[in-house]
This record gives sequence, C-alpha cells and structure tokens, in this order.
Amino acid sequence: MTSSSPFARPDRNTVLIAALGLVLIAGGLVAALMLLSPAVPEALALDPSTVVAPYGQDELPSGAIHEVSLVAAAGTMRLDGVDVDNVWSFNGSVPGPEIRIQLGDTVKITVQNDLDVATAVHWHGIRVPNGMDGVPGITQDPIAPGSSFVYEFTPPDVGTYWYHSHKRGNEQLERGLYGAFVVEDAEPAAYSQDVTLLVDDWLLDQVGQLDTDFDSSEDLHHNGRWGNALSVNAEILPTITAAPGERLRLRLVNASNGRIYQLRFGELDAVAIAMDGFYVDRPLPVDGLEIAPGNRVDIDVTIPVDAKGSFVIADSLLSFSPVPLMTLEVSGDPVDPPSFAPPTAPVPDWSDAIEWEPNGTFELSLIGDEDIAEDQPTGLAGDFGGVFGWAINGRAWPDHRTHVASLGQAEKLRFVNDSGAFHPMHLHGQFFQVVARNGVPVREGHFRDTVLLNSTDTVDIVVVPTDVGVWALHCHIQLHAEYGMFTLYEVR
Ligand code: C2O
Ligand code: CU
Repeated sequence: MTSSSPFARPDRNTVLIAALGLVLIAGGLVAALMLLSPAVPEALALDPSTVVAPYGQDELPSGAIHEVSLVAAAGTMRLDGVDVDNVWSFNGSVPGPEIRIQLGDTVKITVQNDLDVATAVHWHGIRVPNGMDGVPGITQDPIAPGSSFVYEFTPPDVGTYWYHSHKRGNEQLERGLYGAFVVEDAEPAAYSQDVTLLVDDWLLDQVGQLDTDFDSSEDLHHNGRWGNALSVNAEILPTITAAPGERLRLRLVNASNGRIYQLRFGELDAVAIAMDGFYVDRPLPVDGLEIAPGNRVDIDVTIPVDAKGSFVIADSLLSFSPVPLMTLEVSGDPVDPPSFAPPTAPVPDWSDAIEWEPNGTFELSLIGDEDIAEDQPTGLAGDFGGVFGWAINGRAWPDHRTHVASLGQAEKLRFVNDSGAFHPMHLHGQFFQVVARNGVPVREGHFRDTVLLNSTDTVDIVVVPTDVGVWALHCHIQLHAEYGMFTLYEVR
C-alpha cells in the first residue's frame, strides 16, 4: 500500500503534492527575494490557490453506480436481550446498512422518510457537491414525512466515513439513524479482515428501554447526552473472531452524541493508519488515543501467531480501570501474518502557518437567557425565548456570522474554548490540519474533519478550502449544535 497510497486519493494527493511543490517553489522564491532585498517579504509560504482543483474536476468516475435505498422509520432493536422500543433506524437496523464502494464509484441513495417528523441525511467527512450535503435549511429542504430525497455523488477520496441524520441530531442520531460509509482503496491492502465498528452509548432506564428525554437540561448544560450502555454496532460487548496471525483493519467510528472514548488495546500491537478517513503520514500509537463524536480512526492490528484466548478493546476516558468495548477472540489454526507496511500517505508540513494571523476566530461559550432577546428564535429547532444557547462568538444559531473563505486559498482558523465543556468542532465539505494547541505548535501528521477542544483549549487549524458552497461548521456534541453552536462556512 505504501507505494500505491499516493494514488489512492487522487484529488486530495494531487492537491497536497502540488501544494508541497508550491511550498518548495515559494520557498525558493523567498530565498531569492531575500538575496535581492534585505527585508523579508510577507510571502505566504503556502498558497495553493492555483493548484486546488474544484470538486469533481479531476474525478475519474469508474462508471459504476450503486443504487441504495434507505428507509428511515420507527422500530425496535434488540440490545442486551431486551427489545428496545422508540428506536429509529434505516432499513430496520441499527446501525443502518453499511455503504461500501470503490474509489470512483457513484452512489445514488434514495432516502425515504417514513418517520412522523422531517429528516435529512449527511455524509460525514465525504466531500460531496454542496447540494448533497444533507443539512436541512441550508443545503436542502428537510425531507418531509412520507417523502423522499435522492442523494447522488462520487466520493473523491478513499476512507472511513459515516452517514447520519442531520435533523434534530440530539434525538434522531440518538435513536439510531446512522450507518457506516466506506470508500475502499483502488488496491486494498491485504488485510485478513476489514471490519467497521460504530461505537455508541445508549442511555437506558432500569428495564433497558431508551430514555426519551433527548433535551435534558442537565445534559444540555454539560457535555451532551452520555449513555450508560456502551455498544459497538449496537451490540453490547460484541466479539470479533480472528485466527492467530491474522491482520485486521478496524474502522472505528464514534457515533455517540456526546461521549468521547480513549482507546485501550492492552497487549495488542495496534497502530492508527488513518484519522477521519485520511491516511496518516506515519503510523501512530493507538493506545490512549481519544476519539470524539464524529471522529474515525482506522487501526491496523496483527494477532500474534502464538496468541490464545481473547483480547479486550476498552475505553479508559473516565476511569483507571478501562471499560470493555469489545473482545477479540482468537481461535482456529494460525496463519502467516500478511506482511506489508501499514498504509500511509504524504501529508504536507503546514507549520509555517503558525506565524499567520488567524483569518477567523471562533470563541465557544455558553450564553444565558439575558443575552438572548425574548422574540429571538434559538437553536436549530428555532424555539423562542427562555433557552440559553451554546454560542460561537457570542451568537447562538440562528444568530450567526457566516465565515467567507476563498477556494484554494489557505487560511488559519482559531477555536477558543471559553466554556468548561468539550467541543468537537466539525467542518463540512473540507479537511484541515491542526497546527497549534494552546499556542504550542503541533504536527499531527494527518488531516481531520473534526477536532476536539477540551475546556479552555485554543486550537489553530489550517484549511485549504476545496469545495465551493455554504457548509456547516458546528460542534458535534448534538445537544450543543442543536442549541446554537452552529455556524456557516462559505467557500467562494
Ligand atoms: Cu457528522 Cu454536521 O455532522
Ligand atoms: Cu460542544
């Protein structure tokens, strides 16, 4: 994979390699200019404006079209031996059906809404034409009960993505309206198994039924809804079976409304090969890695040939004794471990941006009733008065200022967390790199579409806008977004 990976994401890598080239050329120019004039010009070391192709321009569609039908409807789900009511799902299953395609394939997804309320589906992390992004009220009208909407797009990048309702996420996502979306490499590496694992937590009452107070003011004031039952693919403590020597690619998705996980792989020799769908430039240690709502991590793990019994994959965010998420059960005859270098992709060094003034600052805070006029609708639901809001620069949606960016023009954005809560900030339609945390330069070695801010964190990111349109920028803790921490990012 190492050799083919630069070609695995033609669009993105073309952009990056070209950007890298431009940095070198610009660097040369700067050096030359420095020789000519004593003053160092205010040259941007990174200006890929001429090399970023707009969406779709250098696509190589394979011609294959996958027609998928997703029916959103109320139903039940079996969890821990209980038939749980009040679940909403796609095609009657939680998670919804996995959509898995090859790079270059087109999907044509008909979403039929058989719920009593409106919905819309967002393809988290996938670069789609703006009108296909599934943000009701912004990129499309909500899909009314009884009607349908057809989403059609050709994902330009390989990776692990997911889809979920983008309407009243604090309720609809929580009830189960989500699923995985995988775009496979043109030449997938020879893993023994490639498994998608959607991690979610459910808030259940004493008899194992879903707590349906999705707008709890306690949750709203804190870090959103955190459940009491951890699940993977909506199963509690599931088991994956593998033979000794097998090499697995685990595609983890944090589908929770608010919960952050800190992964523990114990004795297992596991590395992260992709974050938020994007290959890393070098494999990263996975033990202790945090994944916030919206984040994905792809993990490369080899079962030792002499292994017996089982391994536990756990979460240790809140406790010293990790809480098990799932079990890897080793059984069967040993196989020869597939041998290849973990897939990686070059990631350009954007550390010059540390010196830049931010092009936009987003201060995240909680504002009280006194800051919101009584006749002002608040939150995505647009309720009137009496509700405090989660705010960006003192404004709770729909009150907002759209940030305007230019296609292909690199810019630095600063998020400042002025609240005691977590905020995993998610930008639609683009990808970015974190360049500093709390003023300290960082080089993560991968792109992201969602970055977690702990309380009081300041995070600087660099974006090279690749797709025109009006995109959502919001906290992925669903209750925070629903109650105001939501704004727009327009690329022209
Ligand atoms: Cu995964 Cu705007 O969301
Ligand atoms: Cu938040």
